[in-house]
Amino acid sequence: MKIRYTFLSGVMLGLLALPFAGQAADGGDWKRGRVYYRFVCTDCHRGGSGEIPPTSRSMAEWKAYFQAGKHEKGKMSLNYYVSKPFRESIKTKNQAAAKFIDVPAEQLWKDVEAFVIRGAKDGDAPAKCN
Ligand code: HEC
Repeated sequence: MKIRYTFLSGVMLGLLALPFAGQAADGGDWKRGRVYYRFVCTDCHRGGSGEIPPTSRSMAEWKAYFQAGKHEKGKMSLNYYVSKPFRESIKTKNQAAAKFIDVPAEQLWKDVEAFVIRGAKDGDAPAKCN
């Protein structure tokens, strides 16, 4: 009886996982991430650091970059730039920030990460800044 119960739970868990099979493992929406990266992140990079295309790093390097969460060599944390207060602060001059104003920061974070990993130099679809 116990064995059968365990087996059934296993099957049920497997079925539960199925509807997510088509999504990126981390649930990021790379299309939204692409818009945000191009019109918010890149908009700023163009003015200061120079463009930083997704192809400037490998998939593993991007994963490590997001895991560390540091930005500008540690001066800022990267999550500030997907945060709602940051989007609020630029929304009148930045349409992408305005458009995604109600997207939770954790989601936008995953979206941008999904885009740069997809667009990495060894990713599925290497991507420039625009
Ligand atoms: C307010 C302006 C600004 C915004 C917004 C911004 N960045 Fe940056 N970013 C910079 C500057 C300036 C540097 C260069 C720092 C240096 O070289 O000293 C930089 C550097 C980087 C680097 C190179 C490595 C590093 O950390 O120095 C990456 C990668 C990066 N940004 C990713 C992002 C992503 C992803 C976003 C959007 C979620 C973003 N940035 C938003 C200004 C910005």
